[in-house]
Amino acid sequence: MTVLVFDSGIGGLSVLREARMWLVDQRMIYVGDDAGFPYGEWEESALLERIVGLFETLMSAHQPKLAIIACNTASTMIMPALRQRFDIPFVGIVPAIKPAAMRTSSGMISILATPGTVNRRYTSMLVEQFAAHRDVTLVGATRLARLSENYMQGNTIDSDILLEEIAPCFVEREGKRTDIIALGCTHYPFLVNEMRKVAPWPVDWLDPAEAVAHRALQQLHSFWPQLKHSPEDKAADLAIMTSGKPSEATARLLGSFGFELVLDNFLKQQIQKHA
Ligand code: DGL
Repeated sequence: MTVLVFDSGIGGLSVLREARMWLVDQRMIYVGDDAGFPYGEWEESALLERIVGLFETLMSAHQPKLAIIACNTASTMIMPALRQRFDIPFVGIVPAIKPAAMRTSSGMISILATPGTVNRRYTSMLVEQFAAHRDVTLVGATRLARLSENYMQGNTIDSDILLEEIAPCFVEREGKRTDIIALGCTHYPFLVNEMRKVAPWPVDWLDPAEAVAHRALQQLHSFWPQLKHSPEDKAADLAIMTSGKPSEATARLLGSFGFELVLDNFLKQQIQKHA
């Protein structure tokens, strides 16, 4: 069966690598909407329309049996629209607010995400529901997703900028300190080692990717109980970047994740199909 993993760029690979561990028999298609990157500062309704439009093309071209929206900025608002429009299971990723609230010893947690994610109604609902008894700091980082893309493409990172982006997560109040940072953007797990080096003090960094992959496996089995194998299982894993022209470094990275890059201009195809 084909499983589609979607993000605004290459950050969703942090979820893909976990999905490969859980969905071992499935063929993967990775879609990075790099023509729309970064999603963090998109206006909500325009982003919703864009992603549903992209899925119209992706669904008819590839007929995935499940899709993972490996992007918090999208997942915190798009899931009802996708589930209503398409008849396959969709699994999203949202910041690990509940686990962070459960695990903290100091009672102080921070959520590091894109401005879009921290401003979503859905995110405040998660805080109200699961962390109302905790001291929660929401940090909308404007440059971190792009920093991560650069870093993943092999460029060195400016540690002063990195520290500026994460510094608001480190809060000290009444002799207590933040002890957990929930990573609310799939680009950030790739930066954890660098963030650790510039962090004012040690914290736990929570990445929900494994839980998402586990959930995807459950959904796949419960939605398609009769389907064990399908003809496309042995087909190549494909990567589609919507710009049609990812950098050489991105192409190499996707290759190292085992993907064959589809170099068509995806957006042009989409416009033709839906004209
Ligand atoms: N990777 C995405 C997320 O999880 C978004 C990054 C961006 O496009 O700003 O939120």
